Amino acid sequence: MAVTGLILIAFLLVHMFGNLKMFIGPEAFNHYAEWLKGESEDGGILYPLVPKGWFIWIFRVVLLAAVVLHMYSAATLWKRALAANPSTYAAKRKLAQTYSARTMRWGGIILAGLLIFHLAQFTVHAALVAGPYGGSPYAMVIGEFGIWWMVIVYAIWMLAVCMHIRHGFWSAFATLGANTSATARAVLNGCAWAVALLLYIGFMIMPVAVLFGWIH
Ligand code: HEM
Repeated sequence: MAVTGLILIAFLLVHMFGNLKMFIGPEAFNHYAEWLKGESEDGGILYPLVPKGWFIWIFRVVLLAAVVLHMYSAATLWKRALAANPSTYAAKRKLAQTYSARTMRWGGIILAGLLIFHLAQFTVHAALVAGPYGGSPYAMVIGEFGIWWMVIVYAIWMLAVCMHIRHGFWSAFATLGANTSATARAVLNGCAWAVALLLYIGFMIMPVAVLFGWIH
């Protein structure tokens, strides 16, 4: 859980950074999208180390493997927890846990569901609400986030994602042995909040800027 979770957080930091290219302009963002897919004139990312267009598929396989292993580990741990503590009592015992910690399982399922919508929208282009966009990734993003409720859907989704990360980041480092003292715990907690807030602001600033017409 810890290792795959940290791989996914690393991906999100890079994805967030890439999305901010929308602020530089259409050429920068469109070139970036083409470069990732090996469609740019320079042969794209990692060319000529790997043939044109291969990187994106290697990347997708690694990312998919991380997601599948992360969910598989979650299901295994969930089953074990149920076997260890079947709640057969009329009154449920309340554990001292944060809201993020209590919502890891269902929160994880909800955020995965929205991820399927996100991929259907921006990767497969089967769920584009604003309609055809003429082939430019920049125009596609401007079209989709020009819709006010789309920005709200993403704001809620990102809240689920960042709550999951706030607890997950902390939990991953605890698993890897970093939870050794009160100071270490305070540092870990601070880092977990910092990463979650950075991701929330870094991801949401662009859709909000599109909605308010600051970039168009
Ligand atoms: C406000 C938040 C987000 C925005 C605006 C956004 C935007 C985008 C866009 C525009 C693309 C397509 C890029 C292209 O045309 O090449 C994309 C792809 C993708 N996004 Fe996001 N994204 C957001 C959050 C997320 C989150 C939270 C996740 C994961 C949990 C995620 C996972 C992905 C994946 C896996 C791809 C596909 C990469 C591929 O083509 O293989 N995104 N996103």
